[in-house]
Amino acid sequence: MNIIEFKKINKFFGQGSNRVHVLKNIDLTIQKGDFVAIIGQSGSGKSTMMNILGCLDTPTSGSYKINGTEVGKMDKDELADLRCKTFGFIFQRYNLLANLKAYANAALPAVYLGLSSSDRTKRAVKLLSQLDLGKKLKNKPSELSGGQQQRVSIARALMNGGEIILADEPTGALDSKSGEMVMGIIKNLHQQGHTIILVTHDAKIAAQASRIIEIKDGEIVSDTRTSDVYYDTLQKTEVVKKSKFNILKYRFMESLNMSLHAIVSNKMRSLLTMLGIIIGIASVVSVVALGNASQAKIMEQINSMGTNTIDIRPGTGFGDRRAARIKTLKVSDADYLAKQSFVDNTTPSVSASGTLLYRNYSLTAQLNGVGAQYFDVKGRKIAQGRIFTQEEVNSLASVVVIDDNTLREAFADNPNPVGEIIIFNKKPLKIIGVAEKDNNPGPMSESMNIWTPYTTAMYKINGTNDINSITVKVSDKVNSQVAEDSIEHILTTLHGKKDFFMINTDSIKQTVESATNTMKLLIASIAVISLIVGGIGVMNIMLVSVTERTREIGIRMAIGAKQADILQQFLIEAVLICLVGGFLGVFLSLFLGWMMNTFSENFGMIFSTMSIVLALVCSTAIGIIFGYMPAKNASNLNPIDALASE
Ligand SMILES: Nc1ncnc2c1ncn2[C@@H]1O[C@H](COP(=O)(O)OP(=O)(O)OP(=O)(O)O)[C@@H](O)[C@H]1O
Ligand SMILES: [Mg+2]
Repeated sequence: MNIIEFKKINKFFGQGSNRVHVLKNIDLTIQKGDFVAIIGQSGSGKSTMMNILGCLDTPTSGSYKINGTEVGKMDKDELADLRCKTFGFIFQRYNLLANLKAYANAALPAVYLGLSSSDRTKRAVKLLSQLDLGKKLKNKPSELSGGQQQRVSIARALMNGGEIILADEPTGALDSKSGEMVMGIIKNLHQQGHTIILVTHDAKIAAQASRIIEIKDGEIVSDTRTSDVYYDTLQKTEVVKKSKFNILKYRFMESLNMSLHAIVSNKMRSLLTMLGIIIGIASVVSVVALGNASQAKIMEQINSMGTNTIDIRPGTGFGDRRAARIKTLKVSDADYLAKQSFVDNTTPSVSASGTLLYRNYSLTAQLNGVGAQYFDVKGRKIAQGRIFTQEEVNSLASVVVIDDNTLREAFADNPNPVGEIIIFNKKPLKIIGVAEKDNNPGPMSESMNIWTPYTTAMYKINGTNDINSITVKVSDKVNSQVAEDSIEHILTTLHGKKDFFMINTDSIKQTVESATNTMKLLIASIAVISLIVGGIGVMNIMLVSVTERTREIGIRMAIGAKQADILQQFLIEAVLICLVGGFLGVFLSLFLGWMMNTFSENFGMIFSTMSIVLALVCSTAIGIIFGYMPAKNASNLNPIDALASE
């Protein structure tokens, strides 16, 4: 039965005037179980023919059938499958992978068959032991003699069955004794039923075959049969059938393994490549965390202005110079607003600056006339004593709460001033409390502030019933924008025109929030540039890696790796580098944050899980994006070109 059929096979190399006709109209049939030697001088086209036979190369024209199936119509994956399952290659220069141990080299073709790691190793050990290499299983090729390496490559050829063994000058690099041993093994394989095609330029070696085909200048010049024995008795290899999922899984595991190996064996290079990603991810995560922290700080300050409060002031806005002359804002406005259902309470405030006298101290202070709920609304705490009550407000009581600055300046030798009398603008006031230090210092943080009931400030100190502002605390259930609109409507009606403006802490918060978010996004997108630079570094190193390992890729393809396997291997490598870099970047950023939060008072970082997850997703994406091109290049390599590369 014909296992191989060549009809009018032609092969040209090169283009134009460099075009050479290497194989000329070759017609050839080879039967199952035969042992064929192809002999000819150097340059006669033997290897070219062998490469076409082994589906590593394609003929320029002609028809090639294996077991009756036309090879020319097959796509790359089908050809890879054919190489994987039907052929076993034995090369003159062994072509073992230098970083794999003997058993792993022998087991390699079964990876592409989808065998599990343990099944592969079991079979490889068995084959190597049969070839008298049982003691060299864990040696790398560099630790083996030429003859031993060639036997490992024979074991590899048999790994997936090796129905057709293609041997190109298998003894070419060996001394005569090792050469004889290898030939002995090959003859033995023939007797087991393998179809053997052997290329040689040595007539003595060719004489051991059953059929000798001589080629010269790309043409068959003689075809001699020396023996009529066929051993068509090859037992099918006991390949374990696996589910599709398992096959994919084992192939993936192998790719992962190989990628890890490649990363680990180039530690320094991998680390330097990762550095770009580490810095990129760390800066993106840190910038976002810094932004979060400063935003939180600003929010805290806004909150200290009182949550859900609306300040009403005369004029059209800050800096309105006529505001001082507008006297329409009255206590009655505050009382009227306090009766509205959406209002919790209101507190009018009046201010006056003047001189504060206590014993021999004299200082300039700011007096704030406020309501009883003022401290509550502003969220300020009392350190000593108490705040004034509604009765004291109603009765124009001459009581005062002083702040921390005043305590420090005027009561340096009396830290418990509650009960003392101070004179403000010639009016005596009794101290009933001291406010706690303001945690969120604003522009007024250095000035001295004292608080009295607004009634006292209006009638006893200022002597008018003008007020400076009304602070409205909106009830929690009400939308502050709706409240603002209602207040505007009510006051405009009361005053006959809109001669006031409002400061809504909620809307300030929203404005600040959206502004800082925009800033965060802006700075983060600048940081993303460093990530892209890191990605380009990864792409660069992957291109180098592919170039360095072109030969390895060729070997893998020759023994059955599909394009997808090669693509997967390099893509995983790129993604691994980026992902590990991403994790290290996140850790670096967390560490920086920890340092800042521990050792610095002014700066801090707040990390969000979202930004960390996003950073890791981002680094994976970078691995895929920047790894794809080099990986695709690798998988698109022509097996024969890749094998020929040094
Ligand atoms: N990729 C290629 N591009 C151009 N010419 C090529 C290429 N590969 C082989 N050739 C040419 O084809 C001819 C046959 O080469 P081949 O390698 O098949 O010879 P060979 O019989 O195997 O020789 P040797 O015994 O030295 O290995 C040679 O003249 C060679 O220069
Ligand atoms: Mg050759």
